[in-house]
Amino acid sequence: MTASDNAELLNFSPLMKRFTFNAFMVSGFTPITPGSKLDWFIHRPSGMKGYMLNLTLKGRGVIHHADGQFYCSEDEMLLFPPGVIHHYGRAKESPAWDHLWIYFIPRPGWSDWLRWDRYQGQIGRTALDATASRQMALLFKEVIRWNAAAEPLAEALAMNTLERLILQTFQLQPASNRQNRDPRIQTVCHYINEHLAEETRVEQLARMAFISTSRLAHLFRKEMGTTLSAWREQQRVSRACDLLQQTQLSIAQVARAVGYEDPLYFSRIFSQHRTLSPREYRKKFDQAPLF
Ligand code: FCB
Repeated sequence: MTASDNAELLNFSPLMKRFTFNAFMVSGFTPITPGSKLDWFIHRPSGMKGYMLNLTLKGRGVIHHADGQFYCSEDEMLLFPPGVIHHYGRAKESPAWDHLWIYFIPRPGWSDWLRWDRYQGQIGRTALDATASRQMALLFKEVIRWNAAAEPLAEALAMNTLERLILQTFQLQPASNRQNRDPRIQTVCHYINEHLAEETRVEQLARMAFISTSRLAHLFRKEMGTTLSAWREQQRVSRACDLLQQTQLSIAQVARAVGYEDPLYFSRIFSQHRTLSPREYRKKFDQAPLF
């Protein structure tokens, strides 16, 4: 990236310029040098309401999380999921920490692609090679530009570019990448996800995949590392999290939308997965800063 590219990008950064942004996406470029205006530590004890992607272009950042800290350096991408505690800034000894970032509320279909292979303190980490890093940086910059533009369709184009960025990063996650999965299991997973509110029987799923129920059980465990019912439960809880964060639906309505008729039972399952009740979970997000 050339110096003039950087200077141009700063004009679009919400850190340097006031402009109205929509709460579904905020993005920018943060170049940090010792003692400069941006050289301070960010504290987010409740995490954020949405997700955030971060790409280091230069220098090192230090990221403090719930159980420790790590350093991120050039060509590394980070993914901060909602509600994940983090405090970060330039690493003390580093002469710079320049990074691009995008804060966003994902579209419903994106959550499958926002699971990476490697996490530390619940923060996703992906090291890129130089070529991939250049490509990603271009996509980040395109998102930032559309995100700040006022022309028609700018917001849709920003989301479209962000979707591409998320997909391309997901391609770099061999273990999480759905493409590696057996197509029969993909079909079943897709169906379950689209019909979370229903109690689809295993026999019906097996018929859909043209295999026996015992073969399905075996194949599912092999591909997904867990049983079909445990996986469906995880999906239900994760969809419930989205609904609790992004809608005003009551707990009982959320429960029903993800397939639980009994809200008390739903709350018990939810708490087992998230260590908070649905009500506490929603409250935590109401209190979390936007970004
Ligand atoms: C800026 C940070 C950037 C990102 C946004 C939301 O202040 O420099 O990394 O966290 O806030």
